[in-house]
Amino acid sequence: MRERIKQYLADIDLFTAMSKEELEEFRIKFSGKKGILNELFGEFKNVSADDRREMGVLLNELKGRIQDKIEEIRTRLEEGAVESVSDQDLTLPVNFRDAGSRHPLTIIRNRMLDIFSRIGFTVAEGPEVEEDWYNFSALNFAPEHPARDMQDTFFIEKDPDVVLRTHTSSVQVRIMENNRPPIRMVFPGRVYRNEAISARAHCFFHQVEGLYVDKDVSFADLRQTLLYFAKEMFSADTRIRLRPSYFPFTEPSAEMDISCNLCGGEGCSFCKYTGWVEILGCGMVNPNVLRNCGIDPDVYTGFAFGMGIERITNLVFNVKDLRMFSENDVRFLRQFESAWQ
Ligand code: PHE
Repeated sequence: MRERIKQYLADIDLFTAMSKEELEEFRIKFSGKKGILNELFGEFKNVSADDRREMGVLLNELKGRIQDKIEEIRTRLEEGAVESVSDQDLTLPVNFRDAGSRHPLTIIRNRMLDIFSRIGFTVAEGPEVEEDWYNFSALNFAPEHPARDMQDTFFIEKDPDVVLRTHTSSVQVRIMENNRPPIRMVFPGRVYRNEAISARAHCFFHQVEGLYVDKDVSFADLRQTLLYFAKEMFSADTRIRLRPSYFPFTEPSAEMDISCNLCGGEGCSFCKYTGWVEILGCGMVNPNVLRNCGIDPDVYTGFAFGMGIERITNLVFNVKDLRMFSENDVRFLRQFESAWQ
């Protein structure tokens, strides 16, 4: 019995556990109902009077060491403390942690930027807190334009001159003021509008803006660039259609629809049975805007477009509620793990 207890003491000294399960196994083996401790205490009744004292001391020591060991490992596991290298069993498998996954909006933004970079567009960003000049005035918004109303735009501390940008078109101005043509760039970023939050609208969302200014840039260049984008983003058989529209900063202006990629243009609830979905606004840069930025409209022309990243993400991943994008429910986010790019 003496030898067995000594062997157990030595074993316990060396024991380590990497998980709660292993620790529990250890506990059951030594202190469980049918465990080694109880077995030894059973045998202790038959120990001769001469050995009783010595065995009693040894048994109590064993009991104490088992308790200490369990306590020690339990705290270590709970604190997740790292052992020193010499204490670690280097043959154990690595304790893998779940890697996160990219946000669906990030995945789609990256794909969009990649598509435009392949035809020579570079990327720039501008501030989200913006001066009136960049968000409105330089973009040819009349002083009484409704977008300047508090109903639509968030103002910073009631200063009518500082707003949360309502679109990424503000970056067009910043870039044109500081660069000479040719300019061929895309601007991704977050924008803000004073809207009630619902499945279809949010007080903030994301856009990718495009700008191309050079000599002889035409509407045909705009159309072909956007057709290329639509085919790359959705599928090679995607069709586009441009409808006349109005923006103060482009003339002529258009909105672009793509053939609904959920039903292939057949008509479904997403495209309201029209076969088409609107994805962006675009047009030829208004000469007034070029002039406001110090570019001579008699020499240069340009096109611009702006689209919502959420909209494109809706279409690519079939997400119908905008609120999902900002609630950060991991059950939602995990679904995009395999779309990582
Ligand atoms: N800024 C416009 C919007 O937010 C989109 C747009 C960008 C339209 C560039 C024309 C040119 O709706």
